[in-house]
Amino acid sequence: MTLLERFEDGTAVLGVVGLGYVGLPLAVEMAKAASHVIGFDISAHKVAQVDAGDSYIPDVPSDELRPLVESGLLSATTDFSRVSECDGVVICVPTPLNAMKEPDTSFIEAAAASVAPHLHADMLVTLESTTYPGTTEEVLLPILESTGLKVGTDLFLAFSPERVDPGNPVYQTRNTPKVVGGVTAACTQAAVAMYSRCIDTIVPVSSTRAAEMTKLLENIFRCVNIALMNELMQVSARMDVNIWEVVEAAKTKPFGFMPFYPGPGLGGHCIPIDPFYLSWKARQYDVHTEFIELAGKVNENMPYYVVTRLMEALNGHHKPLSNSRVLLLGVAYKRDIDDMRESPAIKIAELLIRKGADVVYHDEWVPRFEVAGRAVPAVELTEETLRGVDAAVVVTDHSGVDYEAVADFAPLVLDTRNALHGMERESVVRL
Ligand SMILES: NC(=O)c1ccc[n+]([C@@H]2O[C@H](COP(=O)([O-])OP(=O)(O)OC[C@H]3O[C@@H](n4cnc5c(N)ncnc54)[C@H](O)[C@@H]3O)[C@@H](O)[C@H]2O)c1
Repeated sequence: MTLLERFEDGTAVLGVVGLGYVGLPLAVEMAKAASHVIGFDISAHKVAQVDAGDSYIPDVPSDELRPLVESGLLSATTDFSRVSECDGVVICVPTPLNAMKEPDTSFIEAAAASVAPHLHADMLVTLESTTYPGTTEEVLLPILESTGLKVGTDLFLAFSPERVDPGNPVYQTRNTPKVVGGVTAACTQAAVAMYSRCIDTIVPVSSTRAAEMTKLLENIFRCVNIALMNELMQVSARMDVNIWEVVEAAKTKPFGFMPFYPGPGLGGHCIPIDPFYLSWKARQYDVHTEFIELAGKVNENMPYYVVTRLMEALNGHHKPLSNSRVLLLGVAYKRDIDDMRESPAIKIAELLIRKGADVVYHDEWVPRFEVAGRAVPAVELTEETLRGVDAAVVVTDHSGVDYEAVADFAPLVLDTRNALHGMERESVVRL
């Protein structure tokens, strides 16, 4: 049976390397489509949790994971020699920036180096980690070909960007269309065959670079538009215009407009990071990506802007920020998820603590919140807590919070998300 036939009839064994926010939901979706899936991770803890059927990713309920593990369709391991059992391997490892905001592809290189010794002929490898155009062929391909296998003939290689939107109740792995670009046409064909079993719509493109660039376009589009809203919010605030009302009004235009919202700064593993993968690579082509740099500048300034607005609001209450008790409401980077990566709450808390504020937080999704190695005290959201602070700052608008109570009892609220929409009070200030 050929590789394509094995993918199509579900007899292929699939490997997923990196069982995080992207890899675990994908492994589960593949197993739900009745493929045998082996999950690989360097974290023995995650591997043990998967093998026990205990999910650590909110979008993957344990009730969904456990039957797949019990039926033997999904298992996890730290032993990369089991790559030799696989027909297809998908790499979903982190792609962070280093301290100089340059791409750090070391996780991709390490994963490739772990996989390479166990590759065999007639096998597909895909990369899903968000990265700059060229990574698949410049970084991954040489490591895979160092085995003596030739991409396009013995081995098939493609890039397919992950588009997971954590916490999205409508669009999840299966019903989010998947872009695929192979090194050769045969590589694309193999990747389309593998993903078609577990994903409804596959969108082939002409090259790995086009697929890599597609993901960056999507994230840069968001990053630049959020920055635009953050700038328009600042000018609107000076003009005493409510930017949230303006966006709602503009949204009624049935064509040519898409709403974006201001906020306390970017968060998550994607939007604050990915655009810089492109600006770094663009320099190799003598291009300075000015939109990306400008958007980065505006968005990175937002935590500082929030602190300045808080100081102004406290000033209106004849209080200095120093020694004021400030409650941060919601510290995860977005609503109704537990992910703290790059959360603007971290920078805001750090700035407030540095200025002498007494910072506490409430976030039902985040049991522990550390800033510069020190735990920020967590508080319950009661009338007493709210009356006892000098100001509350809504950083993330989790849906489980009683915002009426926040508006009624906190002496001052700075709302960076319009969570207190319609609750007009002297004490409520919004961005
Ligand atoms: N989280 C998202 O919402 C999202 C969305 C789209 C794209 N992405 C991209 O997907 C990639 C993965 O992101 P994530 O959020 O799943 O990250 P994550 O940190 O949640 O998961 C990565 C996993 O890879 C494992 N890992 C690290 N090095 C490894 C190695 N050498 N071998 C095997 N496993 C290794 C880690 O232990 C971890 O479990 C990133 O490039 C990210 O930009 C993420």
